[in-house]
Amino acid sequence: MNTILQTENLTKIYKIGKVETHALRGVSLDIKQGEFVAVMGQSGCGKSTLLHILGGLLSPTGGKIIIDDEDLSKVTDARRTDIRRRKIGFVFQRFNLFPTLTADGNLRLAERIHSGNGGNAERRREVLSLLKLENKMNNKPLELSGGEQQRVALARAVINNPAIILADEPTGNLDTENSHIVLDMFKELNERYGQTIIMITHNPNAAENCNRIINMRDGLIIDE
Ligand SMILES: Nc1ncnc2c1ncn2[C@@H]1O[C@H](COP(=O)(O)OP(=O)(O)O)[C@@H](O)[C@H]1O
Ligand SMILES: [Mg+2]
Repeated sequence: MNTILQTENLTKIYKIGKVETHALRGVSLDIKQGEFVAVMGQSGCGKSTLLHILGGLLSPTGGKIIIDDEDLSKVTDARRTDIRRRKIGFVFQRFNLFPTLTADGNLRLAERIHSGNGGNAERRREVLSLLKLENKMNNKPLELSGGEQQRVALARAVINNPAIILADEPTGNLDTENSHIVLDMFKELNERYGQTIIMITHNPNAAENCNRIINMRDGLIIDE
């Protein structure tokens, strides 16, 4: 299998005044295309920092990130933004949907940001129905349950068919039943569309769906 995402000795130091937090202390990773990876570890061990750096939302203090053979530290900011838009979909613990837009409208906005056009209604319908939301297309977030909102957020993350999906505790705010639905959807996206998924989770059941588990502690990968 091809490597799609690689890091070498990634470090991140946050500085607030004179206080330094070493959030990542040298993380080297090699993620293959089509892998479904769980990242686990105690609160504060650096999981979100790692994911945000992988997604280009945050710059590392040191080390390298290589996506599809492109070293992100060697490209311009504009190119980095472009890579992020084209190749990466994000799912957060909080759904971050636009409250005034319908489910379909939220997807359309993601399409517009991605490609600057009006999007593809057929593709939106297909993705929403894959996530069992075909009857909720015209509902706004407040007219949806938490599980449905998370499914819309998932739909938005995959609408532009990104090669890599990064998910930060996507079931963190959901009950057991909704967690199952969301995890089944990740599994299906991974198996049916071959999307590479990196998911932070605290839930051992969630990690069971994955084909690889990375454990972190104190800014380091301690084992796989
Ligand atoms: N923006 C920030 N500024 C300063 N410190 C931060 C910031 N974000 C996270 N941290 C600190 O970095 C460490 C790792 O945080 P984080 O990556 O959010 O961990 P996790 O997601 O595993 O809970 C923690 O000690 C946290 O307090
Ligand atoms: Mg976190």
